[in-house]
Formats: sequence, C-alpha cells, structure tokens
Amino acid sequence: MKREKFVVKGLGAERTLKGTLAVKGAKNAALQAFALAFLFKDNLRLKNVPDIEDTHYMVKLLKHTGMRVKKYGCATYSITPYKQLKPELPYELSRRLRASVVLTGPLLARTGRVIFPHPGGCLIGNRPIDIFLDGFQKMGALLEEKGGSYILTAQKGKLWGTEHFLRVPSVTATQSFMMAAVLAQGRTLIKNAAMEPETECLAGFLNQCGADIRGAGTSTISVMGGALLEAQGRIFQTPPDRIEAGSFLILAALAADDLTIKECEPAHLEALIQALRQAGVCIEVGASTLRIRSSAQRAIHAVEVKTHEYPGFPTDLQAPMVVFLTQATGEALIFETIFEGRLNYTESLVRMGASINLWDTHRATVKGPTLLHAKELESPDIRAGLAYLIAAIVAKGESVIHNAYYIDRGYERIEERLRAVGVDIRRVSEQS
Ligand code: EPZ
Repeated sequence: MKREKFVVKGLGAERTLKGTLAVKGAKNAALQAFALAFLFKDNLRLKNVPDIEDTHYMVKLLKHTGMRVKKYGCATYSITPYKQLKPELPYELSRRLRASVVLTGPLLARTGRVIFPHPGGCLIGNRPIDIFLDGFQKMGALLEEKGGSYILTAQKGKLWGTEHFLRVPSVTATQSFMMAAVLAQGRTLIKNAAMEPETECLAGFLNQCGADIRGAGTSTISVMGGALLEAQGRIFQTPPDRIEAGSFLILAALAADDLTIKECEPAHLEALIQALRQAGVCIEVGASTLRIRSSAQRAIHAVEVKTHEYPGFPTDLQAPMVVFLTQATGEALIFETIFEGRLNYTESLVRMGASINLWDTHRATVKGPTLLHAKELESPDIRAGLAYLIAAIVAKGESVIHNAYYIDRGYERIEERLRAVGVDIRRVSEQS
C-alpha cells in the first residue's frame, strides 16, 4: 500500500466553496451487500458501489471464499459462486475492515461452517464480537477457538431459527443475523435490532428475490428461513452514503459560498439537519439535494451533540460535527455514547487551536469560535480523517494530513471532488 498524504491550503474561515458535490454509494451498505452473495444460487449484481479501499478488500475476501467477482464500469459488480465455497476469512484481509464480520452469518448458513479471526477496522474502541458468537450458538452452531481464529460449525450443517435480543443494537450483528436467518430452518426474531436504513435496503432487495423478512428498519426483525434465493437478473442498488453526505453538509455549513450536495437522501440525515439548523445554519432541502448559501447564513452558535443509534445523531458524524463546533459561538457538550475510543482525535484539533476539554472516554466540551491554525496531522481512522480534512480547509495556513489511506477507505477520490468545488488540496506521496 503506497503511503500518501493530503496537503491542504486552508481558507482561514473564508466562505468560498461553490458548485456541486455528488454523493457516492453508501460504504456501509455496499460492503454488506457483497455478503448477500452467499444467499444466492445464481449471479448477484451490485450497482453504485463506491470505489474505495474497503470495497477492494471485500472483493478479495469474496474471491478467497470461492466466489467469482467481476467489476463492470466504475461501480457495478457481478458475483457468482463458481466452485466449492471455502468458509474461511483470512486474517490478513479480515483485519482491514470491520465489515468482514458480516460475512460470517451468510457463510455459516450457506456452508454450515465458518473460520474467521477477530475482525479489524477503525480503532475507535475495543469492538467485541460477543453478540455474534452468542447469537450463532443460539442458532445451533458450535464454537471453537483455535490458533487465534473462531470456528463455528452448524450442527447437521443447518442453522435453526431462534429469538435474539441484542445486548446493544449492533449494526453488523443485526445484518449478519438477518442474512443467516434467510437460510435457517424456521423463524428468527431479532429484537433490539439496529434500525439503519442500509439494513432496510438490504432486506428490501432480499424480499424482492424471494426472502421473507419483516420489520427491517425497526427494532424487531422477523425472518422466515427457506431455500437459497435467486436474483434472476435483479440488481442491488446501493443507496447514497448518508455519512458522506453529512460530512459534506458540515463542510458546506462552515465554508460554502453556494454549495449543493446532490444524489443524497435528506430523509436519512434528519438528526444532523436538525442539529445544524438549531445552530443557525440555513439549509435548503430538496428531494435529493441539500444546499447552503452564505448569503442566507447567520452567525452559528453551539449545540449539544449526543450520538445515538439510528435515527439519532450518527456516531460517524461526531468528529466532523466537533470541527463545526470549534467555529460556533458558545460551549457545547459532545457525548459519544456508542464507542469508548472515538474522541481521541480531538487532541490534534487542540493543537490546531481548538478549545476542547476531554472529560472522559465518552464526553468532551467544545468552546468556540476559535481560529484554527494549519498543522501536520495523522488520520487515525476514516471519519476522524475526514474531520481533519474539514479542519484543514477552515484553518489558516497549509496543513498536511498523513495516512491518506484511511480517508480513501471511506471516500472515493475525495481530493478530486473537493478540488472541483474550490478546495486547494493535493495528494502527495509520503516519499516526496
Ligand atoms: C457499524 O459498525 C459501522 N460499520 C460503523 O461505521 C458505525 O460507526 C457503527 O455501525 C455504529 O453506527 C459498518 O457498517 C461496516 P456496532 P459496527 O456493532 O456494526 C458494541 C465507519 O466509519 N458491540 O453497531 O461494528 C460495539 O463495541 C464505521 O463507517 C459489542 O459490544 O458497530 C459498539 O460499542 C466506524 N459486541 C456498539 O456495540 C458486539 O458483538 C455498536 O457497535 C458488537 C458490537
């Protein structure tokens, strides 16, 4: 993997960005959609898949299990089982992305076995997988741990429907159980399920192909298991990435002269839109667009932010929102309720001049407005990496953001798209 950095010349709180930013397909729907392939006997096609690092890793994982994966154009994939499936997720690939853990359910349900390491992904907490391991055992699988891997084996090769009550409404556990239940014997209930729109989108497609899933997008999902599905030419359309759209909206709120975000789904961003409007941001909401014009802009003031499972304020927008709050008048509490390691990035914002107090692993207060000064920064994960980009854009001076790879994991060709609306950003090899 080549090591690159972004060099950003800040606007120094000027509002000059203008034009249109088109939102790509949702990372956290597309990655999970690849897992659907294990539920089908025929070819599955996915559209509007973002061209990001995590997609490339997910493709490699599927190929490793025996799936034939072909890419058409820049955003369409075709997936077909072409030989005996190998129910094993290699450490080197699985450690790259948390989404790899979603594959365990459908792979176990399809083959009766799955061998996998503890999944990797962003370092935002210790991210246990107890809910997965307990849940699959409740569906009749036997669990062994050997050589750093988990081995789940379905007794008599089949999983059985059961009633799950999720200790926490885990997004990927909800999705993995929902997929496994499609091939399990009998009915599965998932209570205290995560309610993200991506899960609803996955279920909607599975139902189009013959599955019987009710309640996806609510806290109780019911699945009647059955046989392998057939896509028969139907194509999964990846929904717009609400986290990318939200990140762009926050950038626009800080630096837009006249910026439109298009091909997004405003209905998936109600918590963010409400928070920004409460802070004094004037947002024009269209059917699939969000627009911010400085001519309509008044002074922005601090608002409290508490992250919460969907439809509450998304934890993946917490870091960009903290950057917004460094520019707002007043003091605000940030309460990160989902992950215990997701406020560490604020230390670098303080080095840039922000006034942020970290009270514990879940709470911080931000006092603004403060002028941010350019710094050298290291992206610690996908979302904090994007937040550093936003901070560098509103800062005074030229910042360097290392570990461009982290940002590339979640955002397709980000510097090209930001340059097109007036950001002075370039990608540079670390060697130079
Ligand atoms: C998904 O991660 C997303 N990733 C995350 O986005 C997102 O931040 C998160 O949901 C919350 O919205 C993907 O969809 C690939 P969780 P996930 O399981 O499913 C605890 C990004 O930047 N937990 O809902 O891993 C866990 O530690 C990423 O795109 C257990 O305790 O999150 C956390 O505190 C970052 N045991 C809480 O639940 C388990 O078995 C919620 O995590 C599973 C989870």
